[in-house]
Amino acid sequence: SLKSVIAGCGSYLPEKIITNDDLSRIVDTTDEWIRERTGIRERRVAADGQYTSDLAVEAARRALDDAGLKPADIDLVIVATTTPDLTFPATAAIVQAKLGVEQGAAFDIQAVCTGFVYALATGDRFVASGLHKRALIIGAETFSRILDWSDRATCVLFGDGAGAFVLEGVEESETDGRGIMSAYLRSDGRLVDLLYVDGGVSSTQTAGHVRMQGNKVFREAVTRISEAMETVAARAGVAPTDIDWFVPHQANERIIQGVVKKLDLRPDQVISTIAGQGNTSAASIPLAYRQGVEDGRIKRGDLVMIEAMGGGLTWGAALLRA
Ligand code: ACO
Repeated sequence: SLKSVIAGCGSYLPEKIITNDDLSRIVDTTDEWIRERTGIRERRVAADGQYTSDLAVEAARRALDDAGLKPADIDLVIVATTTPDLTFPATAAIVQAKLGVEQGAAFDIQAVCTGFVYALATGDRFVASGLHKRALIIGAETFSRILDWSDRATCVLFGDGAGAFVLEGVEESETDGRGIMSAYLRSDGRLVDLLYVDGGVSSTQTAGHVRMQGNKVFREAVTRISEAMETVAARAGVAPTDIDWFVPHQANERIIQGVVKKLDLRPDQVISTIAGQGNTSAASIPLAYRQGVEDGRIKRGDLVMIEAMGGGLTWGAALLRA
């Protein structure tokens, strides 16, 4: 039987930096408040005319290079995004064309900040079943475009960016145990009001802005994320403390540390990028994962846990061997 192995990864951040001090000139906030409550120091913002697909394509090219593969080797493109270029077609179709992938299928997944976990779990099923050979799993966002820049409670939290994995179907006997081991996805639509965008095609015909009851989301986070991690670990027959690296969605440093404490992990097992990037929604996990690979922390064969929670509410976790 086949297993989906991570053949490569890549990420991309737009050049423009917005610091906390920059924000303190737009809204009533301070560098100190933002750092203490969230761990964020600065975030990147896409340039005018630079779309989610552009960030996605850059991350995907780097992932393909890392895997030593070409666009012609890819037969599935999944983009997790909440900030698509257009209402349709899927950003994945635009990315497919810009990359020069001419075969296979392309579609988007919308699970907000949990998007990458959903996309990876979905791509894994397509690849491990043999339906598709090699998939690009991309998380890409231009959250700056749906922020209300007069709302200090939300505009300080988010940033733009993209990250990508290449998943390849490999005979299990040849994987050395590498690949996606298990995934666990959840949602509870009764909690829509905690975090949503107040616009859309069918309702207002506008793109809308992010609305969030931050402290209520915060209170839900640690418990739900920890449950997902315990479940996904149990499915793979390991304990959360067996992992080498914890690559969480980067929403708030305090949430991450809460999970670390609850599950008895060590702070030095966490790959954290929040200080320089803020919350990049579906892009944050592959951005952090790439950081860990690049600086030599995540090595071939390491046991890695990813998790996220976001609008919906949606949440989930996945366990993999790098
Ligand atoms: N600067 C200064 N003061 C602020 C700011 C700011 N940027 N933002 C809010 N405040 C004020 C509030 O107005 C409030 O003032 P008040 O007491 O006078 O009313 C005070 O700070 C405390 O506000 P809280 O919202 O209770 O602050 P909290 O400690 O909860 O921190 C935060 C807010 C950082 C948003 C936190 O709740 C959080 O991180 N929540 C989770 C976010 C998250 O994980 N989202 C999910 C992923 S995102 C996605 O899926 C799209």
